[in-house]
Formats: sequence, structure tokens, C-alpha cells
Amino acid sequence: MKELPKVELHLHHEGAAPPAFIRGLASEKGVDLSGIFREDGSYSYRDFNHFLSVYEAATSVLTGPEEFARLTRAVLEESASHGVIYTESFLSPDFCGGGDVGAWCEYLAAIREVADEAERDMGITLRGIVTCIRHFGPEQAKTAATCAAETAGDWIVGFGMGGDEMVGHQRDFLWSFECAREAGLSITTHAGEWGGAASVREAVEDLNPARIGHGVQAIDDPALCDVLAEREIVLEVCPGSNVFLGVYPTLAKHPIQKLRERGVKVTVSTDDPPFFHTTMTREYEGLEKTFGWGEEDFAEIAETALSAAFCDDTTKDKIRERLK
Ligand code: ADE
Ligand code: ZN
Repeated sequence: MKELPKVELHLHHEGAAPPAFIRGLASEKGVDLSGIFREDGSYSYRDFNHFLSVYEAATSVLTGPEEFARLTRAVLEESASHGVIYTESFLSPDFCGGGDVGAWCEYLAAIREVADEAERDMGITLRGIVTCIRHFGPEQAKTAATCAAETAGDWIVGFGMGGDEMVGHQRDFLWSFECAREAGLSITTHAGEWGGAASVREAVEDLNPARIGHGVQAIDDPALCDVLAEREIVLEVCPGSNVFLGVYPTLAKHPIQKLRERGVKVTVSTDDPPFFHTTMTREYEGLEKTFGWGEEDFAEIAETALSAAFCDDTTKDKIRERLK
């Protein structure tokens, strides 16, 4: 499973930071982050909202481009070791320069330099999706969208939104999504992780995204599943994350297989792997054990993910050669 070539579309850059990496940075900087770790060294949080605040606390020691360069190296080494050959990660200007375009460009240059090295040395290709954070509100999202539009191109390929789905509405962020779309960026947004099928419907109707982050609760609305299938809106499904956070009690109760059977296009990702004690290998192993997925299923998932990737066709063709 580890060697099988994989394509991952839903990975939060900071959320992929190993706890030991964050602890090391905190100690270098003399910041006390002991409250966010368990005795065994893993991240400690009670529920999703607490997870979001622990996430932000961990991110507080990622203070400059050099820290993000080191983070990028650690994240890509880990992903590559699990067979990931192409990955898109969510980057937030809120955490990279506080929304200032000049600072954002410096962070981005540092991240890209490491990504280029990793492509050469480890055979993993990274592209970035700029994300705004829903609970930071629509005004702050505009600065993220402006950073996204300024740097849109062959490396920053998409714009999205994460954060607390129960705050506000997708349409509150329309200005930001339109700004990004006009700059040529493809659109994805988190929905249907917590807010039910209605939240997925809202995302589809208000933003017309190419992909949806999670989206799994759409299973409760058969007509909506038909819309997703007909419009070929791809779900970035993160089964381990959903089970760890309690969206579904077990993987056996997770709707990924049912969505697939209804004709909805699904892909598999880790979301924030160390926070949810997962890796792409573990996700694949769980799907094999629980739903009996085999070589053909994983090949189909990888092809769906690559087709739905936001990078250009030349990059896709190069990656596709390696999926064979
Ligand atoms: N940010 C990081 N992980 C997230 C998740 N699972 N849902 C929403 N926002 C997030
Ligand atoms: Zn996510």
C-alpha cells in the first residue's frame, strides 16, 4: 500500500505539521505550547472547535518564510514516503504574512524553493491552493483572495475556504471567490463536514465550485447526490479525519462507498494527518479492509484525483505516466 502511487488533493499545510516539529520550533523560540500536546507527544484537543484553536496555537510558531520552508520539507518528505506523487496543499495568507501581499510573496517563494527541490529529489509535485478561513470572516477573506489573485499562475492554482463551517454562509464570501475566479483560479470549499447536506447544496448553488472539501454529508440528500454526479463536482473525502473527529462513528459507517455507488466522484485525502493519526497509507489500508477496495478501485481514485487536480495539463500528463 505504501508504494502505490497516490494523488492527494486535500491537505492543510500547517495541519500537516508533525507535533515534534512544532514542539521543536516552540522550544527554539521560547514559546510555551505545552498545553496543546499530550504526554505521548501527540496533539491534544477535545472536539472540532478546540481542534481549530489548537491548530491556530501550533501555527503561531510558524513565524516566517524560513519556518514555512522547513515545514514544507517535513511535510513533503512524509507524503513522499507514503507514495504520494502529486499533492495540493492549502496555504493561508492569514498564517503567512498576516494578509500582506509583499510578505505573502516572500513566504510563497520560500515554500516553492523547497517544493522544487522535493520534486527533483523525492519525486513529489506540490501545488498550492490559497485558503481563507471562514470563522475569520468575509473581510479578512478579501485579503486572502487578493493575495491569491496576485500570485495566481502555474503554482498557485486554486482558491478555497476552510475553518468553522457553522459560521456564516458561503455567499458571504462571494466577493473573494469571484476575485479568485477572475484571476483564473479553480474553486473548492469545505462543506458537508459538519453542516449537513444543506451546507453542500448551499456551496454548490452559491459558489459553483469544481470540488468540495469533504462534502460527505451530501449522502443524506439523494437529489443533491444526483446534482454532484451530473455536474461532476469532485469530493475531497478525508475518511480518517471524519472518523477521528466523530462525524461518523466508524469507517464502516462512512458514506464514501455509497457516494461512489451513486455516481459521485470521490477522492481520498488526509486533511491534517498528524492531528488525526493518519497517513495516505493508513487511509488506503482502511478502505481495503472495510470496503474491500483493491488495485482497480485505487487506480480509479488516483485517476479521478488527477483529473480533478487544479494544475495544468502538461503537469497532469507527467504525473499520469507515473500512475501507470
Ligand atoms: N482546517 C484544518 N482542518 C480543517 C477541517 N477538517 N475542517 C475545516 N477547516 C479545517
Ligand atoms: Zn480540510
